[in-house]
Amino acid sequence: MRIIVLGSAAGGGFPQWNCACRNCAAVRRGEPGFVPRSQSSLAVSANGRDFLLLNASPDLRAQIAATPALHADEKLGCRNSPVAAVMVTNADVDHIAGLLSLREGQPFTLYATDAVGRVLAGNPVFGVLSDVVARRVLPLDTPTTIFGPRGALGLTVEAFAVPGKVALFLEQGDPAVGDRTDHTIGLRVSDDAGRAFHYIPGCAAVDSALAERLTGSRLVLFDGTLFSDDEMIVQGLSRKSGRRMGHVPMSGDGGSLVAFSRLDVARRVYIHINNSNPVLDPASVERQAVESAGWEVAHDGMEIDL
Ligand code: MLT
Ligand code: MN
Ligand code: ZN
Repeated sequence: MRIIVLGSAAGGGFPQWNCACRNCAAVRRGEPGFVPRSQSSLAVSANGRDFLLLNASPDLRAQIAATPALHADEKLGCRNSPVAAVMVTNADVDHIAGLLSLREGQPFTLYATDAVGRVLAGNPVFGVLSDVVARRVLPLDTPTTIFGPRGALGLTVEAFAVPGKVALFLEQGDPAVGDRTDHTIGLRVSDDAGRAFHYIPGCAAVDSALAERLTGSRLVLFDGTLFSDDEMIVQGLSRKSGRRMGHVPMSGDGGSLVAFSRLDVARRVYIHINNSNPVLDPASVERQAVESAGWEVAHDGMEIDL
């Protein structure tokens, strides 16, 4: 199974257009070790030819252009694409806006949970995806064979609800955060040989049910939005904590570093990293802390062969 990180940043990307925080300023200046990152997405293939995109970020057009495996092939005629299916893990803008860039009459299968599918269906702008795009409901807790226009991709996905919340633009007042609903899911992706990994780009807590599910995994790509729960407040970037945004921080009590330190997970990679996160500075003590705890920090173009 081939996994390509198309985008490793959280919503806003790195640098974010209107941000002059320490990290964004450093990456704009080209300081050594600071690498720009686009917004949250993976491409996965079992056969090397047909790809399943996990989330469709606003940067998708540039991500496809930067990834030869996703290019249209002139030997196959004027219109074609290795993108056979797209699945979204929630309805946040960083995970759905890229669907609008896939609107050129190209057949693919779009997978979303019932709740997220309703959000998409309820917004007429997504009607630009013509009727050649097949929409399928992704059930929870059920191994689902993934199909594209040319048949099965050789990939199976089991979606499961994780502690989360509705998309930011659906929040009304103080939303429930931490509930398990089909508004925020994690994925177990496997190939026909049984190789599997977990992808959880947004998660409000690592509770015992999630810990149990991940035990024994060969690879987990996990929510690395913030290092500290109050990081955006302290930096004057937001009034919200990480947990309030539906993102468990790396550090502190109940943080992912402590939670995963007790888990048998062979390879652990932080993804969906916010521009405020000090781990984006490779010289930081926070980066050293996550690496010495066995974590990798994803970057755009990172490839993993499982
Ligand atoms: C998030 O992960 O919290 C969202 O991407 C927020 C947003 O839509 O900007
Ligand atoms: Mn996000
Ligand atoms: Zn910033």
